Amino acid sequence: MSRVAIEFQFLDNQEVQETLPCYAIAVPEDPMQLHNDPLISEHFYHQVITPLVKETLFKGKQNTIVSANCFHHIEKVILFGLGRKEAIDEVVIRKAASKVYRECMLLHSKSVVVNFAFLADNPVYIKAFAEGVLLAAHYDERFKSQKKDTTIPSLRKVVLLDVLDNAENNEAIQLAEKITKGVYLAKELVNAPANHVTPTVLAKTAIELAEKYHFDINILEKEDCARLGMAAYLSVSQGSDQPPKFIHLVYKPKSLDPHAPYKKIAFIGKGVTFDSGGLNLKIGAAHIELMKCDMAGAAALLGAAEAIGALKPNKEIHFIIAATENMISGSATKPGDVVTASNGTTIEIDNTDAEGRLTLADALVYAERLEVEVIVDLATLTGAIVVALGDHIAGLFANQSELIQSLTLAAKRTDEKVWEMPLEEAYREDMQSMVADIRNTGSKQRNAGSITAALFLKQFVQKTPWAHLDIAGTAWREQACAYHGAGATGFGVRLLVDWILHA
Ligand code: BES
Ligand code: MN
Ligand code: ZN
Repeated sequence: MSRVAIEFQFLDNQEVQETLPCYAIAVPEDPMQLHNDPLISEHFYHQVITPLVKETLFKGKQNTIVSANCFHHIEKVILFGLGRKEAIDEVVIRKAASKVYRECMLLHSKSVVVNFAFLADNPVYIKAFAEGVLLAAHYDERFKSQKKDTTIPSLRKVVLLDVLDNAENNEAIQLAEKITKGVYLAKELVNAPANHVTPTVLAKTAIELAEKYHFDINILEKEDCARLGMAAYLSVSQGSDQPPKFIHLVYKPKSLDPHAPYKKIAFIGKGVTFDSGGLNLKIGAAHIELMKCDMAGAAALLGAAEAIGALKPNKEIHFIIAATENMISGSATKPGDVVTASNGTTIEIDNTDAEGRLTLADALVYAERLEVEVIVDLATLTGAIVVALGDHIAGLFANQSELIQSLTLAAKRTDEKVWEMPLEEAYREDMQSMVADIRNTGSKQRNAGSITAALFLKQFVQKTPWAHLDIAGTAWREQACAYHGAGATGFGVRLLVDWILHA
């Protein structure tokens, strides 16, 4: 794992009087309010805070941070803005925490004492703060021969001041630790190039999780899938030298929550470990060189499984990944080929680059046969969703409004944003095929591309509440932002886990 361990502690104000290498103070919009903070002495307020605020014109706005060298037993002080008190929520705290982490790294502080006492004893905020720090602390140098200079001090300890050292607050920290561990796994799977993460490696990762957390696991080989009639899925893999792996991982709780709306859940993740486009090769602006990220849905599932194995919610959860490469060879699928999916639907493969929906079609049929109560799929499915919503918002399609609602709430809490998109049946016409039941592409002008892709998936769900998240934009970001470095975001891990814990 590519990060140093960070320890969290709760402390009484009295206990830290001796040495304070770095003191970070949360500031709501008005820094002058710190005058009333019982954890800040009159002397410290006038000698340190007032001059720092004046010099930097610090106003306590969200996403602002200032620091200064100090005196006596406090070596460095950081003021971090949280904005208007009424607008403070876990999203604001999470982002602010990542800023504090970065500032401590710049200051070479090994430990920091954080005063956000005015926010009271709120485990939701404590979790969010720990999450912001831990997410920001992730870095990935697995593929560099020259590793980071470990003699430079880095943040190892975060002390939360005046927060009760009780079971609830400790649990909040552990929750953050377990969830971010899942995010790290997802990021590392996506960041790893396609020659390192093949379908076989995804299967191996799932097997390791199964061993660690006593999950049930079934890896279906090519022949098993053929026997189940998964010709849509197998058509994607037939041009590749890498064998396909259909992964079915199951978490079963000791007991089921009888009151939960969903007790038996299936998650499906698109696991195309490299999408060359096939014979409809990705050229020019299609960014073939980024297509190692086309298994980000699968990575989010494995990350969520890592967290769920540790958190042990009382729901049965199935993780399904039809892993494959989409490559070119003499045996590759040809545009115009017709295949029959496992539910008997015949599909004209009009474009070999619309491969994700072919893999998901058979995965959806498989999931529904498990008689789950709800299915949620995550897929880097269309370039069109990137055009529509960019890299901060995933497209959310669902055949049930409660599902839209609960996933939207989870998205608000985790700041893994989603936006509801319409499953407009009028566009189904664009998928009409002359030879088969359906074609794997929509209009030739690519109009409403993410909607036709979602409508295609819908065809393979008969009766189960189902949601589809198109994460083609959100899975990967060129620029670092908030608590994410450039590259994989691990999008979906926090969203799915939060949804599971609330649903
Ligand atoms: N994997 C791509 C979608 C994608 C685009 C993921 C950008 C990540 C970033 C998908 O398989 C694809 O190629 N979709 C095509 C569909 C089209 C051929 C109907 C697209 O969006 O262009
Ligand atoms: Mn494609
Ligand atoms: Zn793809």
